[in-house]
This record gives sequence, structure tokens and C-alpha cells, in this order.
Amino acid sequence: DFDAFDISEELGFILEEPLTHLPDYYQVWLDLANNLTHLIESRKLRDVVHKVRAWKSVAITITKLHSQIHSPTAKLQQATNTMPILSPHHLSNHRELRLAHLALGFISMGYVWQEGQHEPAQILPKALAWPYWLISRRLGLPPILTYADSVLANWKLKDPTGNMDLIFSFPGGETCRGFFMVSLLVEMAASSGITGSLEVMHAMKISDLIGIQKGLIKVTQSLKKMKETFQLMHNHVEATAFHGTLRIFVSGWRDNPMLPRGLLYEGVSNEPVLLSGGSAAQSSAIQCFDALLCIQHEGETGAFLTRMRDYMPPAHRQLIETLSVCPSLRDFITTCSDSDLCQAYNSCVSALVDLRSYHLNTVAKYVIVPGNRARAMGCPLRGVGTALNTTGTGGSNLMVFLKTSLMDDMWRRSTPP
Ligand code: HEM
Ligand code: ALA
Repeated sequence: DFDAFDISEELGFILEEPLTHLPDYYQVWLDLANNLTHLIESRKLRDVVHKVRAWKSVAITITKLHSQIHSPTAKLQQATNTMPILSPHHLSNHRELRLAHLALGFISMGYVWQEGQHEPAQILPKALAWPYWLISRRLGLPPILTYADSVLANWKLKDPTGNMDLIFSFPGGETCRGFFMVSLLVEMAASSGITGSLEVMHAMKISDLIGIQKGLIKVTQSLKKMKETFQLMHNHVEATAFHGTLRIFVSGWRDNPMLPRGLLYEGVSNEPVLLSGGSAAQSSAIQCFDALLCIQHEGETGAFLTRMRDYMPPAHRQLIETLSVCPSLRDFITTCSDSDLCQAYNSCVSALVDLRSYHLNTVAKYVIVPGNRARAMGCPLRGVGTALNTTGTGGSNLMVFLKTSLMDDMWRRSTPP
């Protein structure tokens, strides 16, 4: 089962031992992604990417290079100027594809949002768009930075004692690092819950009541651990930097008034493409627990969550779908009316409600409050600051969406089997 769904017992949906290097041929992508923060902050990223297209003017570039040889980006420009539009065909396995998707995702977000949310690029140049498109198709992921990239595949071991660090970052310093790292730790805390869900599923097939109960307890404990871990956000993520910097770089081009028609992938399609930005709504963990516990989200909320599955690795999406088509756990528990089992189920739903309501408070602190403050201070975001205030980076109408998803859980709790 673990292999079929591309999950691991210890890490759940997190990619095991992500690569940090690609074959030499792709060095330019890694050079850009590794220097991204610097290139965005000095507003050079777009220029550097454009030089790639104007590669024929080698002489001009070399002259420029001489004058910049002592600047920090000199080495990078040298590398970049020898970069053709790279074919993705030398990427040979899943982990190479995931690293390439991650790197191109970071570079593309930086390219589009380099000038802030009011001046997004409308066209992604072919040198990025074309390989990104093909790699995305091979992975079954969309050509935009997803949660599966920025969190699940964006980690490495910092030292042999097992401390973790990010592979790539956006501007926003410790806040950016903190946000992705804490999300990773929350996802790690979910891994025992995923194992628990599989155990419940198997125990149900053989009507093993004790097995179901044990599995449910495991899921409950995992949800509690997730909430506990989530609280680390407050020590590592600062609201102003999160709201004013990081959120912009993970924003997408669907349901986003700054790019209402989407983004044109040059050399790939003639029409702009609409894609949602990165969001933990793309995490498979909570959707697995919903499916296991038969918590259904209807209307717009349900449609949004279902659409977010398109942003998950196909094998993970498959696990949610497998859990959703299993015979209903809830009906099973209602029928056998075993009070210990009922209690285990109800505790599990409560733990999920708790996590969702904690999440909602966090959203108030990191999105609503700084948004209102920015607006009150005369709108430094030039009148469009309110757009990201009521819309999540995933594109949802965030408060309505999050409150509804919470109510769907609570309704389950208030009608115990
Ligand atoms: C959805 C904000 C961290 C799990 C959302 C949405 C927002 C949001 C605005 C609405 C969807 C959209 O993006 O349009 C935040 C903020 C966070 C944070 C500000 C931290 C500073 C996390 C973490 C998790 C998580 C660490 C991991 C469990 C979810 C889930 C959804 C969601 C599962 C989908 C809604 C649901 O199922 O109830 N988040 N999020 N979020 N987020 Fe977060
Ligand atoms: N999805 C999170 C937000 O909208 C990152 O702020």
C-alpha cells in the first residue's frame, strides 16, 4: 500500500530524501533557484531570465560580464548566459523530476511576482515555460509551485544529526523559512495518522472492531500532534513579512484579480492558463482524514477542495479517492453500536475540528489583521492590497471557505453515530 500511494511510514506524503542536485546539464536552473532571494531583492531575476532568450548576442553579454566580474551575480550570469532552452529529457527518475519541478516553480513565481503584486509578468518566457510544462505533465502536477513542491520536496538534512533545512527560499527571511519548515513538521506529524487511516481501512474489511478503534486512536493522536506542531508558526513566522512578502510569491493566476486572464506559457499554449497558487489546502493529509471519517464538504467549499486535488501528486490523490469509495466507516460504526468505537470516532472528529479552528485563528492573525492594518495605513499596496485580504493564495474566498469547512466537521460531531 505504501508504495502504491507513494507514501512512507515515517514521512507520510513527504518526499523521502529529495535530491539537491541535477545532472550538470541543468546547472543553470539550480544556480537561479539557489540565488533566488538575492536576484528578486535586487530585481535582476527577470533580466537574467531574458538574457537567456537573447543568447545570440553573446558578445554584448560578455562585455557586460567583464564589468560585473566582481559583483555577486557575475558567476551566475556567466552560467545563465550559456543556457539554452533545456530539454527535460535527461531527467530520468521521480526525484530528479520533483527537484526540477521545484526549482522551475520557485524561479517562475519569482519571475512573475518580482515587482510585487501590482506588476505581475503576463508571460512566462519559453526557457522556463516549455521545460516546466513537459516536466509537469510527466509528474501529473500543474506547472505552478504547489504545496507538493514548496513543502513536501523542499527539504534537506542540514547536518548528520538530522536537522532539516529548506532547499530553496523566497524573500522574507526567517518568516519564509519558518512557514515552509513548520508546514513540513505539521505534515510529518500527520504521517502516523495516514498509517492509522490505512489500518482502519484494512480492519474494516475484516470487521476487526479493535483494529478500527486502534487505528482511529492513532489518527486522533496524530491530529493532536499536528495542532501542537502548528503552534510553532507563532515563533517562526512574523505576520507583516508573511502578509506583505511571502504570500505574494506563492500567489497564483486563477481567481486572482492581478492576473485575471491567467499566465501565458510562451511556446506552449496560445491562450493564458489559469492556475491556483500554493496553499496547504493542497495537502493530502486533511483530505484523507475527511474521507476516512466521512466528512463531506458540499457546495463551493467542496468544489474548491476537490479542485485542489489536481495540485497533488497523482498517487496521493489516489489515496484520498480510495478512502472515499470505501464502505462508510460512519455507517459501519452506527450499525455495530459499540460505545468504545463510537467514542473513538467522535474523539477523532473533535481533534479535526480543533485543528481546523486553530487554523482559522492563525489565518486571522496572519492574513486578516495585517491586511486591515495595511489598508488603514493608506494602502501601501496601491489599492489592490485588499484583493489578497479576502482571497487565499489558493484562490478561495477564504473566511467563508474556512468557516464552512469547519462547520462541516462540527456538524459531524453534533450528530454522533
Ligand atoms: C486552507 C491560510 C498554515 C492546512 C487555507 C486557506 C488559507 C490558509 C487562507 C484558504 C485556502 C486558500 O489558500 O485559498 C494559512 C495560513 C497559515 C496556514 C495563514 C500559516 C501561517 C497551514 C498549515 C496547514 C494548513 C501548516 C497544515 C495542516 C490547510 C488546509 C486548508 C487550508 C487543510 C483547506 C481548508 C480545510 O480543509 O479546512 N489556509 N494556512 N494550513 N489550510 Fe492553511
Ligand atoms: N494559503 C495561505 C494564504 O492564503 C498561504 O495565506
